[in-house]
Amino acid sequence: MKTETKAVSRITRNTAVPLSENRHLLRWVEKMAQLTKPASIHWVDGSQREYQDLCSLMVASGTFIKLNDKLWPGCYYARSDANDVARVEDRTYICSLSKDSAGPTNNWENPFDMRKKLKGLFSGAMQGRVMYVLPFSMGPIGSPMSQIGVQLTDSPYVVVNMRIMARIGRPVFQEIDKDQKRVVPCMHTVGAPLAPRQKDVPWPCNREKYIVHFPETREIWSYGSGYGGNALLGKKCFALRIASNIARDEGWMAEHMLILGIEDPHGEKTYVAAAFPSACGKTNFAMMVPPAGFEGWKVWTVGDDIAWIKPDASGRLRAINPEAGFFGVAPGTSKKTNPNAMATLSSNTIFTNVALTPEGGVWWEGMTDSPPAECIDWQGRKWTPEIAQETGAKAAHPNARFTAPASQCPTIDSAWEDPNGVPISAIIFGGRRATTMPLVYQAFNWSAGVYIGATMGSEMTAAATGAVGKVRRDPMAMLPFCGYHMGDYFRHWIKMQRTLAVTPRIFHVNWFRKDSDGNFQWPGFGQNMRVLKWIVDRVRGRAQGKETPIGWTPHYEDINWSGMDFSPERFAQLQTVNREAWRGEVMQHEELFIELHDHLPPEMVYERELLICRL
Ligand code: GTP
Ligand code: SPV
Ligand code: MN
Repeated sequence: MKTETKAVSRITRNTAVPLSENRHLLRWVEKMAQLTKPASIHWVDGSQREYQDLCSLMVASGTFIKLNDKLWPGCYYARSDANDVARVEDRTYICSLSKDSAGPTNNWENPFDMRKKLKGLFSGAMQGRVMYVLPFSMGPIGSPMSQIGVQLTDSPYVVVNMRIMARIGRPVFQEIDKDQKRVVPCMHTVGAPLAPRQKDVPWPCNREKYIVHFPETREIWSYGSGYGGNALLGKKCFALRIASNIARDEGWMAEHMLILGIEDPHGEKTYVAAAFPSACGKTNFAMMVPPAGFEGWKVWTVGDDIAWIKPDASGRLRAINPEAGFFGVAPGTSKKTNPNAMATLSSNTIFTNVALTPEGGVWWEGMTDSPPAECIDWQGRKWTPEIAQETGAKAAHPNARFTAPASQCPTIDSAWEDPNGVPISAIIFGGRRATTMPLVYQAFNWSAGVYIGATMGSEMTAAATGAVGKVRRDPMAMLPFCGYHMGDYFRHWIKMQRTLAVTPRIFHVNWFRKDSDGNFQWPGFGQNMRVLKWIVDRVRGRAQGKETPIGWTPHYEDINWSGMDFSPERFAQLQTVNREAWRGEVMQHEELFIELHDHLPPEMVYERELLICRL
C-alpha cells in the first residue's frame, strides 16, 4: 500500500506545475480543465519513475495486474470492459466544414453541431479523475518529418501505453516551447466521471462513444473508450486521419503500412512498405524470419503499422515510422509464427485482453501448441480447454493486443530512427482473400498500381467491431483511416508520381487463398520471404515475369524454392487468375467507383477499362 500511496501523491501533487511555457498550450489546458473539471492536473514528464508510479496506481485501482516478474519482467496485464474491445468505425467521424470533403466512406456531421455535442459530453467528464497533459511526438523528436500533439486524457492506461507507442514527455515540451511546429490538440476522456467517494471500476468507459476529427482545425476529440486506436490518439487518429490531411496539403503520404528492409547475402539492402488491412499480417511480415533456403538473408524491421512517406530532394520516396512501439495482435503470435514479436514482448510490455495463467503469466490462442490446463480468460472468468470445447469460449479476445517497445525487437533496423527515413523501392498491397486473388502479382505501372490499391478487397477482422469475415473494399487498407474524400485520396496518389524521379514498383499479395476444403493454400509467415525475394529481384531488374490480364506474375522458376517442397501444380493453382471470378471482382470495383464518382481521378476509370479489355 505504501508504494501506491506515494505514487498517488507524486502523480496528483504536481498540479499547477506546468512543464511548458507555451502560452497557447497553457491557456488551452486551463480552458479544457474548466470544461472537464478534473480533480487535478498532471503534466507528463515521460520519466521511468513516473511510468512506474502510474503502473502502481493502476495496480492499486485494479486496472493492472503485475505479471510474475521472473517470467514476464516489467510486464502488466489489463482486461477491458467487454463493450470496449476494438475500434468503433461507426462511431468515428470526420467533421470537415463540408460533407463533400469527408466523402461517402466517412461518417460526417456538421462541425458546429458536433462541437456543441462534444462540449456537452466533455462537460464535467473528468470529475474525480486526474487530467494528464501528455505531449507526444510522432516520429523521432526533431526529425523534419515528425509531428507533435498534446493529448489531454483522464486515462493513466493511455499515458503508459503512449509512453511505449510514441516519444513523450519533457523533450516534447521543449520542442513545443521552440514554437516552430504546429501542435495538434487531442482531447480524450473515458467518459466516466466519479462522484465523491464513488468507487472506480477497473476499466472505466462509456457505452456511448465518439471518435471525432476536425481536419481543417487539426483537432481530435475522443469520448467514451479507453481501447487502442480509439484512445491512443497519436496512432490512427493523428498519424493517419489528421496526418493524411496534412500530407495531402504538403505533398507527402500518411499510410497504414509496415516498413521493412531486406538484406541479401552480399549486404545489399532494399526497403519496402506494405499496406495490409487491420489484422491482416503487417506485424508478422515486418518481423519475418527468412526460412531454410535463405541463408545469409535478413529482414529488418522499421515499422509495423504506419508509414509517413515523402519525396526527398532527389525525387526518391523516403519513409519514417512515426511510432516507437508495436500495438500488436496477440492471438496467433507464437515462437513459430513470429519469434521476433515474442522476443519483443517478453519484457516491459502491456497486455490487454489476453488470458492470465495461474503462474502470473499470459496466454492466448495460438501462442503454444497445447493450451494451459486452466487460466482466467479476458473477461475474468475461469477458462479450461474443456470449457472452450463445450462453449467455444476464447481465452483471449480475438483483438487482444500487446504494447511493446520497438527498440526491444531483435530485428529492429539500424536506420529505424533515422530522421530522414529510409528509401522505399516497392509498395505492396495485400488483403485477406479466400478466393480470386493470386499469391502475388506486379502492377504494370504506377497508375495501374494505384488502381490495384484503390480497389483492394479484404475480409473484415476483429480489429474493428462489426461483421467479421465479410469481404469489403478497403482501399490501400485506409478505409477506416483516410481523413478526407477517398476519391481525392486516389488523386493524391496519382499526383505523387509527378514529384518522383524514381517510382517505386507496386505489387499485390494474398497469403490467405483457400482450397476447396477451406485450408490456406500457402503456408505464409516465414515462407512469404520467397515472394519478397521475387519482389526485390523485380525491383532490381533481375527477375522475369509473366504477363497476365491483371499484371506481371512470377513463373514457377522465378521463385527460390530451396528448402521447400511446393509443386509447380500447387503454385499454378495459387496463382490462378480466374476470368469469371475477376469479372465479379471488377463489378465490385465499379460499386466503389460509383460511390466516389464525382471525385474519382480519370486514371481510375481508364485503368478499369484497360483491365476489362485484358480480361
Ligand atoms: P493491425 O495491428 O490490426 O493493423 O494488424 P496487422 O496487419 O499488423 O496484423 P498481424 O500481423 O498482427 O496479423 C494478424 C493475424 O493474421 C494473426 O492472427 C496472424 O497469425 C495472421 N497472419 C499473419 N501473417 C499470416 C500469413 O502469412 N498467413 C496466415 N495464414 N496468417 C497470417
Ligand atoms: C488497427 O486496427 O489497424 C490497429 C489497431 O492497428 S488500433 O490501434 O486499435 O487501431
Ligand atoms: Mn493497424
